This record gives sequence, structure tokens and C-alpha cells, in this order.
Amino acid sequence: AVTEKTARSLPKVSLHCHLTGSVRAATAVELARKHGVPLPRDAGSLYDIPSYESLGEFLRVYDVIGSAMRDADDFRRVTYESLTLGGADHTVLYREIFVSPASHPGVPYATIMEGVRAGMREALTDRGIDSRVIVALHRERSAREAEALVETVIEHRTEEVVGIGLDYEEVNGPPGLFATAFRRAERAGLNRTAHSESGPPRHIEILLDDLHCTRVDHGYHVVTSPPVLRRCVDEGIAFTCTPVSSDIGRYSGGGDGSHELIDRMRRAGLRITIDSDDPPMFGTDPTNDFVVLAGALGYTARDLADFTFTAIDACWLDDSGKDGLR
Ligand code: ADE
Ligand code: ZN
Repeated sequence: AVTEKTARSLPKVSLHCHLTGSVRAATAVELARKHGVPLPRDAGSLYDIPSYESLGEFLRVYDVIGSAMRDADDFRRVTYESLTLGGADHTVLYREIFVSPASHPGVPYATIMEGVRAGMREALTDRGIDSRVIVALHRERSAREAEALVETVIEHRTEEVVGIGLDYEEVNGPPGLFATAFRRAERAGLNRTAHSESGPPRHIEILLDDLHCTRVDHGYHVVTSPPVLRRCVDEGIAFTCTPVSSDIGRYSGGGDGSHELIDRMRRAGLRITIDSDDPPMFGTDPTNDFVVLAGALGYTARDLADFTFTAIDACWLDDSGKDGLR
């Protein structure tokens, strides 16, 4: 088994972490009070995720927290906390963080990014953790809204935005709807990833053929289709897996046996990275995801280090940026 001390000290590269899902319960309570937003539960049970019924219930709480993030300083603060307490404290060297503008209704994109950028800069100065942003499109909203957001991203393009993603519930927004938005992003030089939690494997083919994704977030159902699995191996598609959040099957398509699914994906030759998704909301952190996975599968510190090397290869820094992490 890998101890918590060893796991904490292993260098990590974080490719699957949502900003809103990184807000600590104490911070969520303060921001809600600051803006007069009622929380659906008290601070003690806000993040008692196993008591939630479904991914939908989880996401509605996530939305309440998102609606309590309003001014640039809120975004600065939660970004800084994610990168320091939730990152550097766990030897995370580099994080590509999902920012979902649609989760913050009424807040201008420029305000969100001004705060996020300030938090990123402070975390780099104080703790040496580097970071970039992936702007996530909200798949439960319309394709038209996603296309408009991509135009906004391109218009306000600054160098910390390295790509786009697709989040929220897959059954409420199948990937094919977003082909136009993703192709526009591709033409503007943005990288592409998308969540695929509930499946089916056909959705992964759509991510590759129509959205031109080079990474897939979660994607455990890939093992149920040998041809799709083979193709993802051949094309070097990276899968950003989240052991703890996915162990609760009704959230990320894993469920009982999700650790074994990760092991099967790895043995099949897929490129796998490990991260924490929505760390405080799922009661986890980057160290804990390593410890839990190693405990379930008998992985060694060496195996865990391999995930970090894969994440360095799969990240969206340029070659000299990647070399800086090696
Ligand atoms: N946003 C934050 N966490 C998510 C998850 N597990 N699935 C979809 N969207 C999310
Ligand atoms: Zn996620």
C-alpha cells in the first residue's frame, strides 16, 4: 500500500478539476452569506454527497455554490484556494482547471476571468503552482448558447485559456449537439475535451469524429466496446479518471468496480490520468485519490508516478512547458 505521506509527496498534474467543485464548504458558506444566497443544506451536510440521490441533485447544489460566486474577488479567492490548499499542498505542480461560465448566471465572462487570472498569478507567486483554464460548455443548455460562449472565449482570448470542455449531465445534452461549437474552437486553436460518464461508447466516437476531442473526461464505458477501446488506444486518447468521485456510480458512471474499470483501461493500453473532479464536494483531494486507487488495485508509488508522466504528456502546455514539469 502507498501511505498518505508518500502519496502526498508524489508530484501530480491535475487535468480534471472543476473550479466550482473546488470551493471548500467554509468558503461556500461565507460567499453565500456575502451575497445573500440561501444554501440548500447547512455547512455540515452541504457536502454529504452519499446522501444525494443523483448526479442531478449534486449538480443543483453545485449550481447554488456557483450562483454565490459573483465578483472578481470571489473568483480570485476560490481559484487561489483550489491551487494552494487543494493543489500545492498535495504537490500538484500544474493544474488545468475547468471554469464553467454558465454556472455563474449574470456574471460577465471578463469578470470571471479577471478573478481567476488573479488567483492563478498569486498561487504561482506564493507556491510555484502553474495553471491554465479550460472553459466548459454547459451541455444542459442549448447548442446556440455554447456557440455564443465559444465566440466570447475567442473574443477575450488570453493565453491562460488552453481549451474547452463539456460538462453537466450527458443524458440531458448528447455530445453531437455541440459539434459546431467545438469545431469553431478548434479553428481558433483551442484544445478540446468532454465529459462522458453515462455513455454509451458511441458518444466517445462522436467526441473523436465530430468534436475532435483529444481527451475524454471519465469515459469508463469505453471498456464495453472493444472497437472503440482499440481506436482510443491507437489514437492515444487520454482519459482523465477520478477514482473517488466515480466510485459513487450515480455520479460519474463508475460505481461499484470503478477502480477496476480504471485498471482495465490502463491494462488495455489507454493513457490514463488521475484527478479529484470536485475535491471537497466529494470529500477527497489529490493525495486521497492516489491513496484510494493504490489501495484498491495494489498500485505502487511507481505506478502512481506513471499517471503523472502520462498527465504531463496529455496536458496542453507547449513542449517547453511540458519539459519544465519533467
Ligand atoms: N461538473 C462538476 N462535476 C461534474 C460531473 N461529475 N459530471 C458532470 N459535470 C460536472
Ligand atoms: Zn468532472
